[in-house]
Amino acid sequence: EKGTYPHFMLKEIDEQPIVMRKIIKAYQNENNELKLDRNVREAIKACDRIYIIACGTSYHAGWTGKQVIEKLAAIPVEVHVASEFSYNMPLLSAKPLFVFISQSGETADSRAVLVKIKAMGYPALTITNVPGSTLSREADYTLHLYAGPEIAVASTKAYTAQIAVLAILAVDAAQAKGITLDFDPMQELAIAANAMEMLTDQKEAMEDLVVNHLEKARHAFFIGRSSDYYVCLEGALKLKEISYIQAEGFAGGELKHGTIALIEEGTPVIALATQANVNYAIRSNVQEVVARGANAMVISMKGLEQENDTFVLPHVHALLTPLVTVVPLQLLAYYAALHRGCDVDKPRNLAKSVTVE
Ligand code: F6R
Repeated sequence: EKGTYPHFMLKEIDEQPIVMRKIIKAYQNENNELKLDRNVREAIKACDRIYIIACGTSYHAGWTGKQVIEKLAAIPVEVHVASEFSYNMPLLSAKPLFVFISQSGETADSRAVLVKIKAMGYPALTITNVPGSTLSREADYTLHLYAGPEIAVASTKAYTAQIAVLAILAVDAAQAKGITLDFDPMQELAIAANAMEMLTDQKEAMEDLVVNHLEKARHAFFIGRSSDYYVCLEGALKLKEISYIQAEGFAGGELKHGTIALIEEGTPVIALATQANVNYAIRSNVQEVVARGANAMVISMKGLEQENDTFVLPHVHALLTPLVTVVPLQLLAYYAALHRGCDVDKPRNLAKSVTVE
């Protein structure tokens, strides 16, 4: 039920900090130690490469998962769009582990890959919000997202839940390999949950940004580098699917290789700047687009902010920034759709669960 909320999407955006806390609780024992299915741990220990298979928003979460798993657990990870993987399978390593990410657990494109790789005898883990779903039943192992029912077509809380569970998987894999981390991952997740809550409390600021940047826009660009880039892909998808503004996410460095030709007077450009190692580089990209007339907004993070940044996010651990960076982008998409009179929860041409290939 929507309760007092005008739309499920807004309710689900607001639920994200609660979902984070549920995940932290579910994957911890009473001594605050990570508690993951032993079989999952063994499967990860036994593999030489992880293949993440997903579609849409879940695919975007997969890219953040790759970064976290490679950085914390030093296991190579590939991320593939399910429909492409089916017809154009890459060369596989000797001992692959397939990880399917799917909110619904019913996505036909992902299932087609699962059926194929099971026939080839490979192990599969499904990360899903629906434990009894097809992808969960047909895989060897399941990790639950604990996001609760997601009703709005545009996925929000499932995305952040997927990232949190992938981070927990990465930490577990690191522990299994005897790697010691120099931070407390569960505490960092809790800090991220608090930061998300601070952001969901700032809806008015987001609505104002929509009025200034997106209400009348025909197209929009999201730029970012490193982990911000993957959040840009997600921000663009959210905006496209519910507000019908043509939007693209780009790696900041790729702009000058073609896309910058599209920047003209007033083009909205949303830049993410939450990573210390690329802060200088992304800000030069902002200058480049502003010099060509872009109506830019910069979303940065405490500690890396500069004068005139549009919005400064609370500081969180560098590997977990997507959890907080995505929240303003979800809200921008929501208010853009609202101000443009779109059907927020049920955008045209889309279904919640895509059960045809
Ligand atoms: C976007 C969206 C879709 C889904 C995609 C995969 O907001 O919801 O892109 O992420 O259809 O769905 P699942 O995760 O159910 O496999």
